[in-house]
Formats: sequence, C-alpha cells, structure tokens
Amino acid sequence: MDSIVELRNVTKIFTNTQGIIKRKKRTVYALHDVNLSIGEKEILGLIGESGSGKTTLGLAVLKLLDLEGGEILFRGKDILNMKKKETFRFREKTEMIFQDPYGSLNPVQSVYKIISTPYKVFNKNAKERDVIERVIDTLEMVGLNPPEQYLAKYPNQLSGGQRQRVGIARAIITNPEFLVADEPVSMLDVSLRADVLNILLELREKLGSSMLFISHDIAVTQYVSDRIAVMHLGQIVEIAESTELVNNPLHPYTQTLISSIPIPDPERRWDTSEPKVLAGEYVNEGKDECSFANKCPFVMDKCRRSRPKMIEKGNKHYVACYLYE
Ligand SMILES: Nc1ncnc2c1ncn2[C@@H]1O[C@H](COP(=O)(O)OP(=O)(O)O)[C@@H](O)[C@H]1O
Ligand code: SF4
Ligand SMILES: [Mg+2]
Repeated sequence: MDSIVELRNVTKIFTNTQGIIKRKKRTVYALHDVNLSIGEKEILGLIGESGSGKTTLGLAVLKLLDLEGGEILFRGKDILNMKKKETFRFREKTEMIFQDPYGSLNPVQSVYKIISTPYKVFNKNAKERDVIERVIDTLEMVGLNPPEQYLAKYPNQLSGGQRQRVGIARAIITNPEFLVADEPVSMLDVSLRADVLNILLELREKLGSSMLFISHDIAVTQYVSDRIAVMHLGQIVEIAESTELVNNPLHPYTQTLISSIPIPDPERRWDTSEPKVLAGEYVNEGKDECSFANKCPFVMDKCRRSRPKMIEKGNKHYVACYLYE
C-alpha cells in the first residue's frame, strides 16, 4: 500500500508547570518516537484514552506543531521543511474536522461565509457565481438539503448535527486529499452519529481522500476504519486491521480498552464515556520503559528496563509488548 502520510520517530514534548505554590516543571512526551503510516484512500483509526496524545498527533501531521524529533512525510516530502509555496499547497490538500460543532464555527459568520472562505483562499480568481455553486454542491454532499435554505443561516440557528455537517463541508470544499477528524461525533447526539459517520465514509468514496480518524470509542472507530492504531501515553502500542484488532487484541492495554466496550446493544453501542478504569495521573516522561508498565498485570523486570519494539505477529498485526517477543 502506498502511503500518503508517514511519521518517522516523531517526538513532541510539552513542558507543563504543576502546582499553584510550588511551580514544578513536568516534561510530558505527548508523542514518543512514533512511527506510523497512513495509506492512500485509507481510513486509519487512532484510539486511546484521554491524554494519550491523539490530538497532538493529529495536529502534528497537519503541520500545526513543531517537533522535538523525527520527521513527517506527506507524499514523500518532509512537511516541516517545506517552503512557503509548498506549505500553501499542503494546506490546500489537508484539512481538519473538529470535535466541537459549537465552538469550531464562527458565530457571526453565515454558513455561506464559513464554507466559502477556505475555497476562496485557494481559488483567488474564482467568480462569485462559481463559488456559490461550489458551496451548494458541498452542502448537498454533507446532506444539508435543500442547500439554498442554509446559505444565510448562522450557527446558532442550526442543530448540533447540522453544525457538524457545516464543519465537514468547510473541511471538504477544497477536495482535500488527507483529513484529520478529531473525535468528530463524540459531542453529537447518539441518534445523529451514524449519519455523520456515513457522510465521512461517502467522502472517501467520492473524493478518494485518506483520513486519520481519532476517537476514544472503539465501536465508532471500528465502524469507519480500515486499520486501527492504539495509542498509550504518546506511543503506538498496537496496529492491525480493524476487525482483527477488535477480535484479537494482543497488547494488554488494548485488551483493557476492548473489555470496556459496552455490551453490544443498539442503545448503548455508541456510548462515548471515556474508559475510566485506566484513568490516572501517569504521563510519559520519556523513560526507557514500557509506557504501560505501571498498570500492566503482566509486567516483568525487562518491561522497566527498555521499551518493547513493534513486531509483526502475522496477518499485518503489529504489537509492542515483551509478551510477544
Ligand atoms: N498545548 C499543550 N501544552 C501542554 N501540554 C499539552 C498541550 N497539548 C497537549 N498536552 C499534553 O500532552 C498529552 C497528550 O494530550 P492530547 O494530545 O490532547 O491527548 P488526547 O487527544 O489523546 O486526549 C497530555 O498529557 C496533555 O496534557
Ligand atoms: S511490555 Fe511488559 S509492561 Fe508492557 S504491556 Fe507488555 S508485558 Fe505489560
Ligand atoms: Mg484529544
């Protein structure tokens, strides 16, 4: 499979201050030596509990963060060393869909203004008539019908599901080749989620775009993704095709995540509550040990002495854990 995006040994470090009186500095490896590739037309799911580094990874691949180490390639080109013109083209080809349909739309802009702005940035000479046509086509694509009715509306006149569709329309009007969708349905009502997920799947069919689909919800991720990567404290610990990963999780952390999926019943299937069993104060401080060593029921001495490498266990199923070496 040809890859559109490739991360090589990517490290992102934040330095946070802790405590109100004693301002103690804490170093957080939000991404720690991450290797990952996303294929052409692939939807790659990225799961992990809150604070594992999913959003940081999404921002990094869109060139919205500086890195402390490693490189990110887009169609073979190092995105961090792109010249101005290349960066402009890269911005045209890549887009982000946000989690919060309420906070991510400018409340004083009309739907037409919100959706047409990115298109105009990259098509400076487009005639207004063509822009309107393009906006209407895009509204149709995201299921806002009849589209003309939405052009003059403002975000506060729309429901949560309609806003998220406007957010998607804004992201796809430039026909991006690669999208990052960061928890795109987790703030939506259960009844609207399947619709929005189906729009994302249709987009891949219509535009042939690749996508990084970020979520803490495994059922939702399995529904849309070809493969799933599991993140734990800044590291990818397991990757496999979606069904294989859910049916045969190898890493102890993935097993804990999967076992916290609610029992499949139609009402609870889309439950978004974050997996609480594992919530804790641990962060990755860059130590050379397995990031799961503090919580793992199978921990061994060597797990604290070095980090396990990612190895293939057949069936394109990769895992980083000493139990499998
Ligand atoms: N801008 C930032 N400044 C300081 N720390 C950050 C920043 N963004 C993220 N972090 C830290 O990096 C880690 C990963 O965060 P994030 O990528 O938001 O995780 P997720 O999206 O999986 O919930 C967390 O420990 C978080 O506190
Ligand atoms: S490497 Fe060791 S601590 Fe880490 S998940 Fe595997 S058994 Fe557990
Ligand atoms: Mg996040």
